Amino acid sequence: MAMAESGWTKEKTVEFIAIQKDMDTKEKLGQYFDEWAPNYDQAVTSMGYIGPSLTANLLQKYVKSKDARIFDVASGTGLVGEVLAGSGYTNIDAVDGSAASIEVARKKNIYTNLYVQWLGGDNKLNINNDSYDAIICVGAFAFNQLESDVLPEFIRVVKPGGYILINMRTRWLRLVSQFSDGKLEGDMAKLENEGKWKLVERHVKEEKDSEQNVVTFIHQIC
Ligand SMILES: C[S@@+](CC[C@H](N)C(=O)[O-])C[C@H]1O[C@@H](n2cnc3c(N)ncnc32)[C@H](O)[C@@H]1O
Repeated sequence: MAMAESGWTKEKTVEFIAIQKDMDTKEKLGQYFDEWAPNYDQAVTSMGYIGPSLTANLLQKYVKSKDARIFDVASGTGLVGEVLAGSGYTNIDAVDGSAASIEVARKKNIYTNLYVQWLGGDNKLNINNDSYDAIICVGAFAFNQLESDVLPEFIRVVKPGGYILINMRTRWLRLVSQFSDGKLEGDMAKLENEGKWKLVERHVKEEKDSEQNVVTFIHQIC
């Protein structure tokens, strides 16, 4: 159904993006993304959202085998998986806390396993150590969503030599209190100092309006 037919307008998308920082519990965040799920793809695509294609293209530079086991963390409705599947990757799993988003993703028939789960705090993944060749996580390090406490779990489930790609808006590094003053990058560096992973690329996509810049952190597991 087109956005206009569903009653979802561009103004509603702008309003939704603006209120995201008020979704300060997992319940509110879940309702927010569940409500958005049926219209999310069209809404963000029409706003020029490039995170999924940008990050999936970066992944191709590091993960050459199309059979590689890839985990799309905070997959939402599966925009990242769609790009990866379109590039020939055949073995992709997804996890997201929004059940309605996962149902949209499931219908695309691009993921092998899909999990509904909120990550962070004491919530551990029910996944064996060293299961994946790569994690790709796009657009979920933001207000009230993922924080650095998930990084040890990311590292645990990726094989030594595998990659973790985290894509986010650079402005969140400044505006989200858990990330600001170098805290997020400091937590990443601490894990590197502990010998858990190594930063292989910090890729910044610069836009005309620098507030729209996005950064992708690419780490390799030790
Ligand atoms: C902006 S969307 C991005 C979705 C997809 N990666 C994309 O780029 O289109 C953020 C997604 O992260 C999920 N999310 C946020 N925080 C999460 C958490 N703590 N655990 C699991 N999923 C989370 C939300 O439910 C939402 O689907």
